[in-house]
Amino acid sequence: ALKSIARRSDLKSYVEQTPEMNRLLRLAAARYVTGEDRKDGLAVGQELVNKGYAVSLEYIGENTTDVTECEAAAIELTALIHDLSQSGISARVSFDLSHIGLSLDKELACSHLMTLAEQAMGAGIELFISMEESSKTADILSVYGRAASFYPNIGITLQAHLTRTPQDLAAIASSPSRLRIVKGAYQEPTDCSIPRSTALNDRYLELVESAIRQGHRVSIATHDEPIIQEVLDRGWLSDADVEFEMLYGIRPDLSSRLRSAGHPVRIYLTYGHQWYLYLCHRIAEYPPNLFRAVIDMVNS
Ligand code: FDA
Repeated sequence: ALKSIARRSDLKSYVEQTPEMNRLLRLAAARYVTGEDRKDGLAVGQELVNKGYAVSLEYIGENTTDVTECEAAAIELTALIHDLSQSGISARVSFDLSHIGLSLDKELACSHLMTLAEQAMGAGIELFISMEESSKTADILSVYGRAASFYPNIGITLQAHLTRTPQDLAAIASSPSRLRIVKGAYQEPTDCSIPRSTALNDRYLELVESAIRQGHRVSIATHDEPIIQEVLDRGWLSDADVEFEMLYGIRPDLSSRLRSAGHPVRIYLTYGHQWYLYLCHRIAEYPPNLFRAVIDMVNS
């Protein structure tokens, strides 16, 4: 419900145009978002790389239904790839396909993806496609499949909570790929998803194990400590192509502990004007964050 609220344009305008509300929510968002500009993401990225983390960078946005805005998002991602290659920060660039055209036309998203992948390949940078609501899964996988057959520097995110995911993983098993496995952030119908539960955690571990066995490069993207411990206990990290990946601002204690113990950890950074949307996503996914947000605002 919070995500639907976040997408309401009247509320978005209210937040943008009410200075005090805007100021307070920005303070809460600062925990999760590096800033509004590319340079904010790059600065935090550099700091984390200096500390021994790998990083991903996302320019926040989704469900863009205006061609000009899709073009603008693709231009921003082009600039990000360029700046990353100049700065020497070895980062992965992440985005939603619906930010660059999927909500309008699959072909538009595919064409933007191919152009970005060509440029990123020249710069030695990986692109990573996020996974969105289940209504878009088939389209996202089909665009990914087409583009990845030309550009091996494109990776894809799979959601353990969707019942279809083991089949989706099997379908991309033919060639070693870059995969990020997440539990899933969206509220989905019960007939196609598994809610947060032991069954979901078991499914998550099964998918990670299958992906590693199939020779994929796997990012284990979770903050769930028992799952992380299980991965360590099973020795899956001894594989050079497996890493942990966590969202900026979430469980920094855990990522720092893993890094200090010598495990490969990637931090997922975001930047952009749509920080309000991203803040709502993080609160919706973990409601106690609402209290953190209030504390961040009160302590300002
Ligand atoms: P779970 O939600 O079960 O939480 C386990 C524990 O982790 C909690 O008890 C708490 O301690 C901590 N925790 C989890 N979320 C927290 C939060 N927001 N704030 C504070 N603590 C929190 N989803 C998606 O649908 N499509 C995508 O493309 C991506 N991409 C993505 C990239 C990366 C790098 C990560 C880490 C995550 C995503 N996600 C995502 C989000 C993912 O699906 C999931 O919603 C979150 O990771 C939270 O789930 P956990 O696996 O952490 O476990």
